[in-house]
Amino acid sequence: MKSFWSKSGLYGLLALLSAASILLFKNAARTQETVTIKVLMQALEAAQWEPLVEEFEAQNPDIDLEIVEGPNATNLVEDLYTSSFLLGDSPYDLVYMDIVWTPKFAAAGWLADLSDRVSDESLGQFLPGDVNGGRYNGNLYRIPFRSDAGMLYYRQDLLAQAGYQPPQTTQELMAISQDLQDRDVVEWGYVWQGKQYEGLAAMFVEVLHGFGGFWIDPDTKEVGLDGEGAIAGVEFLRETIDSGVSPGGVTTYQEEETRRFFQNGTTLFLRNWPYVWRFANEDGSQIAGKVAIKPMVAAPGESSGATQGGWGLGMVKTTEHPDEAWRVIEFITSEAAQKQFVLATGYVPSRRSLFTDPQIVAEYSHYPQLLQVQETAVLRPPIAQYAQASDILQRYLSAALTDRITPEEAMEAAADETRRLLGTN
Ligand code: GLC
Repeated sequence: MKSFWSKSGLYGLLALLSAASILLFKNAARTQETVTIKVLMQALEAAQWEPLVEEFEAQNPDIDLEIVEGPNATNLVEDLYTSSFLLGDSPYDLVYMDIVWTPKFAAAGWLADLSDRVSDESLGQFLPGDVNGGRYNGNLYRIPFRSDAGMLYYRQDLLAQAGYQPPQTTQELMAISQDLQDRDVVEWGYVWQGKQYEGLAAMFVEVLHGFGGFWIDPDTKEVGLDGEGAIAGVEFLRETIDSGVSPGGVTTYQEEETRRFFQNGTTLFLRNWPYVWRFANEDGSQIAGKVAIKPMVAAPGESSGATQGGWGLGMVKTTEHPDEAWRVIEFITSEAAQKQFVLATGYVPSRRSLFTDPQIVAEYSHYPQLLQVQETAVLRPPIAQYAQASDILQRYLSAALTDRITPEEAMEAAADETRRLLGTN
């Protein structure tokens, strides 16, 4: 009995020791050979990144690229990153960054300067607006992955049947909408992003530009929100709702709600980003093959503007794995990866060569028009206090759009508060 126990005890101990050593060995191998690189992004896009992640990991077996899913609103993802940096010890190695975050994140010292990692020649292969959106105080903090610009989608089929040319002005957009609504061709004229979030500010920049107004001059810090153009712009948006051209619900819509609304086939015009194209034309879509795009409408005599959007990768300053993080950036922003992503999703590349790539052009016949839209892109003010400035604008716009205050009161208050923020009052 005794010997049995001592024997089995010995075996047990040996088994335990060998299990422990396998575990130790495995852990050692993992920490030596596999590095995890973590990045947070909007849920919608996280799913679309999956094939890229698989391919990256297949080519880089020593790196585990972990995508953490966040909310779809850009400002909510920004808040998550911001609190992780403020609390210290951020779990992220990379920041998948909206173009408007660069000045704030760079000024706060949260990002690594990437200037030495990339030559001017390589940067020259990207769209200049997207590269500039990654610079702050002469340093480079973000490599562009995909570009973005706001545009007008319209029902080509319905306009053609009714004998209309696509609208150039806000007045034409309203008149065509009302006519086709009166004739019961469509239920709604125009849907746009009116919820209180960053998308509202992004959309409003186009309206501002189209009414000859401006938000903040980044050089002089002059604020234009209480100017005539800005107030007229808010009045136009209010008018779309008051006249029934836009559903009252637009004041609660983000991009995806407006896309679904338009895709149901009951609406003539939509303001959105290029990603909608692929969804609108997918199998089973009510409007497949019936949609076209054009630059945003403007007030008569004014020029049209598209808000410059776009996403890229920055590196967290405190990452313990800067070289591995850089390998992810290089792979994701490469021509091959962008091409694969664009073909699969219809997003806009940030590399110039891809706009004329035969395979991409064969898949997306609207790319020539898209370049035209990209060329009119207008920046949101690239200032370190952008997030607060945008928050002020969103709040007052929302109050005016939901009829709590008049457009004039709203814009005067927004201008005052913005001047206080910038210290220019
Ligand atoms: C898109 C744009 C981004 C913008 C956001 C607003 O994602 O690329 O720049 O801030 O929409 O919702």
